[in-house]
Amino acid sequence: MSRIDFTGRVAIVTGAGGGLGRNHAIELAKRGAKVVVNDLGGSRDGVGSSKSAADHIVEEIKSNGGEAVPNYDNVATPEGGESIVRTALDAFGKLDILINNAGILLDSSFAKIDEKKWDAVMAVHLKGTFCVTKPAFIQMMKQNYGRMVMTASGSGLFGNFGQSNYASAKMGVVGLVNVLKLEGAKYNIKTNVIAPIAGTRLTEDIVPPELFRMMKVDFVTPAVLYMCSEPCQDSGVIINAGLGYFSRSAIMTGEGVILSDKEKIPTPEEVMENWGRITSLENPKFFSQLMEMSSVLKK
Ligand code: NAI
Repeated sequence: MSRIDFTGRVAIVTGAGGGLGRNHAIELAKRGAKVVVNDLGGSRDGVGSSKSAADHIVEEIKSNGGEAVPNYDNVATPEGGESIVRTALDAFGKLDILINNAGILLDSSFAKIDEKKWDAVMAVHLKGTFCVTKPAFIQMMKQNYGRMVMTASGSGLFGNFGQSNYASAKMGVVGLVNVLKLEGAKYNIKTNVIAPIAGTRLTEDIVPPELFRMMKVDFVTPAVLYMCSEPCQDSGVIINAGLGYFSRSAIMTGEGVILSDKEKIPTPEEVMENWGRITSLENPKFFSQLMEMSSVLKK
């Protein structure tokens, strides 16, 4: 098995001041990457800021013999995104890897959620991913090389009570990746998704303590590092990772049913009658882009 090596590569990890991002940054640096450690240093619900979060991780990387610089910008503004990418270019001259990992939580049942909680979570997860990815993607286009990993969540993929804002934002990230895998293809930019399961401050009061202790962030990072590496040729793949479990999630489409000769409009009763076949997931198909669906429509 060939060793995954990041010597000569430059990486940005957002939200790397703690939790998963810290571990991704440290492991990338151990394998030779020069790392921009971004973190705003706020609370779990996105309040406040502090330089110490990013500074500590930079010190840790340097004390292990690695190379890293801090960045304290907010991912959720275009200026922040530009500045994070500029930090990589100013310090190391290029950018090969972006891990969009920064995140906050503001849970609420849907009936009680207000616009403030909705907007704050959207801002960090979805707009934040956009704000950092845009300048990073342009730089990677110039270099004809890039590897990006976006952080989604099982909350969005499958649903989780009380997380309507967070789940929506995370699925927005999946939609973005579906497009970036196409637009990045000719520039050798591969964009994939991690849906982590790990014991961090985001999950500490959600998961039973025994399980929380077992859910080490270390179990997630290997999948992220592989997706950041040159050997990874996939793009648009969603990987669930936690506690040694790795799997792919994908949007699959059932075989479906044709209820028209392209002339006659089917009735709602015909839809009702065929509901079982319409909703069946037997013999699913995977469409790698929207245009592929036309082959089915033309039948
Ligand atoms: P964490 O709270 O330990 O780490 C998130 C980091 O992002 C913090 O250090 C925080 O300061 C930073 N951050 C927050 N807002 C920021 C902003 N606007 N700009 C820059 N940095 C900012 O939590 P964890 O669990 O390590 O989360 C990492 C990512 O993984 C998040 O995107 C989260 O939604 C996602 N995730 C985590 C899961 C888990 O099981 N821990 C499950 C599914 C997704």
